[in-house]
Amino acid sequence: MDPHETLADLERGAELGGGQDRLDRQHAAGKLTARERIDLLFDPATFEEVDKLVTHRCLDFGMADQIVPGDGVVAGHGLVDGRQVFAFAQDFTVFGGSLSETNAAKIVKIMDLAMKLGAPVVGLNDSGGARIQEGVLSLAGYADIFLRNTLASGVIPQISAIMGACAGGAVYSPAITDFTIMVKNTSYMFVTGPDVIKTVTHEDVSKEDLGGAMTHNATSGVAHFAVEDDRECLALIRELLSFMPSNNLDDAPRSATSDPPDREEPALDRMVPANPSQPYDMLDVIHAIVDDGDFLEVHQHYAKNLLVGFARLDGRPVGIVANQPAVLAGTLDIDASVKGARFVRFCDAFNIPLVTFEDVPGFLPGTVQEYGGIIRHGAKLLFAFAEATVPKVTVITRKAYGGAYCVMSSKHIRTDFNYAWPTAELAVMGPEGAVNILYKRELDAAADPAAARSEKVKEFREKFANPYIAAGRGFLDEIIRPRETRRKLITTLKSLENKRDKNPPKKHGNIPL
Ligand code: HXC
Repeated sequence: MDPHETLADLERGAELGGGQDRLDRQHAAGKLTARERIDLLFDPATFEEVDKLVTHRCLDFGMADQIVPGDGVVAGHGLVDGRQVFAFAQDFTVFGGSLSETNAAKIVKIMDLAMKLGAPVVGLNDSGGARIQEGVLSLAGYADIFLRNTLASGVIPQISAIMGACAGGAVYSPAITDFTIMVKNTSYMFVTGPDVIKTVTHEDVSKEDLGGAMTHNATSGVAHFAVEDDRECLALIRELLSFMPSNNLDDAPRSATSDPPDREEPALDRMVPANPSQPYDMLDVIHAIVDDGDFLEVHQHYAKNLLVGFARLDGRPVGIVANQPAVLAGTLDIDASVKGARFVRFCDAFNIPLVTFEDVPGFLPGTVQEYGGIIRHGAKLLFAFAEATVPKVTVITRKAYGGAYCVMSSKHIRTDFNYAWPTAELAVMGPEGAVNILYKRELDAAADPAAARSEKVKEFREKFANPYIAAGRGFLDEIIRPRETRRKLITTLKSLENKRDKNPPKKHGNIPL
């Protein structure tokens, strides 16, 4: 046979994957094929495939007759917005996208290259897990990937998209990566599926309820984003990458913006209600300040009492962490603390400055929180902010009470600039709680306890519920007018561009896990 034809024949085989019938079934299930996904992920005509002709080596169980070039995964590199990115896409049409020895070696190869070249890795997961016919060779392949996920953590960004099945130990690769995106209705993740659960615990649960996109976005927090379909998923990965540097030695790319850096937003002056117990939406604050009102919220459906996500200020990417007074009054609970800590550590690892908007009445009280370990989980957020050496700026919009004041990127844990709006209240606790503790006996003995209490609350509020004691101590660098917040943050971040800070030499810290 003509050698050119031989090559063309093999390439056609790889491109056809498990055959037209299976490709049709993939489409009928509402999913794109591995190659279609790769095409949408990368800038047009920039993808360079590696190991297209790799085949499995399993000769048992009739496998010798079922050889598909590429062996169920498309791997390689290309450009996303002009920057190099590595990716693999599991091909469900070839043995259900299952992971074989050789297919794992392909993934490992591009991960090693990505580490050497300092480029992000994107995994498009759609797989029945370990290839059953290959036994421990396939398990070894998973472990080889897990090791690389771990070593690459904090060196290059890693993004996982779940676009079909992801079950058993296979879930642990996405779990180690930085961000996990799930496609609604077509993807699921679980360690053990509904059938095993039924046998072991007699629980009846559907695949969707057990490990569907919304379960992991809203309940477990395993996934950071839920999208409607494959196209939205791939567009989101491109957007997410636009906020990140290629590796931990680079800065995130700056984009052009027509939003003026000195834009004032008078609406911010009226954002905080006069009544301190009345909620408002911190998203409105963020949208009013960042470039073009664009905020890519991470973990949008999980622990909504804390907002985290990416935005730009004068074209520079920033990570935003903000209490949300509209949910649970903005208190910090276990889930919010873990959510915030992970995001802060991502930004710190990848040189993305942190901007914190604070309105927090404290940690959420109660036995559920205490028994669940709010002490060690809350400590994660404290630890993450304290160890972060990227530029850090905090704006207190209203409450900064108790331990949460210290935790939320306070001056004392190395925040570079701390600002407050005139509506800020910095105290050990809210006036009502404080008065009940300090004046309990006196109030009980008063002729009119209610009137006496409200007098004391007023007195306490006047003394403590303002930013001026902290400003007098230098714990706040400046009290700013809300309408000027955008300009202030932009000039502050510009002044911090060359920040150098470091932690003491150590193997690694011991964050309270
Ligand atoms: C080999 C597999 C496979 C696997 C699916 N296939 N999973 N081949 N190894 N793990 C093949 C099927 O034989 C079938 O081949 C094709 O892929 C499509 O599978 P279907 O079952 O027809 O598809 P569907 O009905 O959509 O069901 C998908 C599925 C199911 C839910 C993923 O296939 C399934 O339950 N597979 C096994 C999942 C599993 O238990 N894996 C091991 C988990 S443990 P044909 O030729 O008919 O097209 C694990 C450990 C990881 O992964 C270890 C890490 C440490």
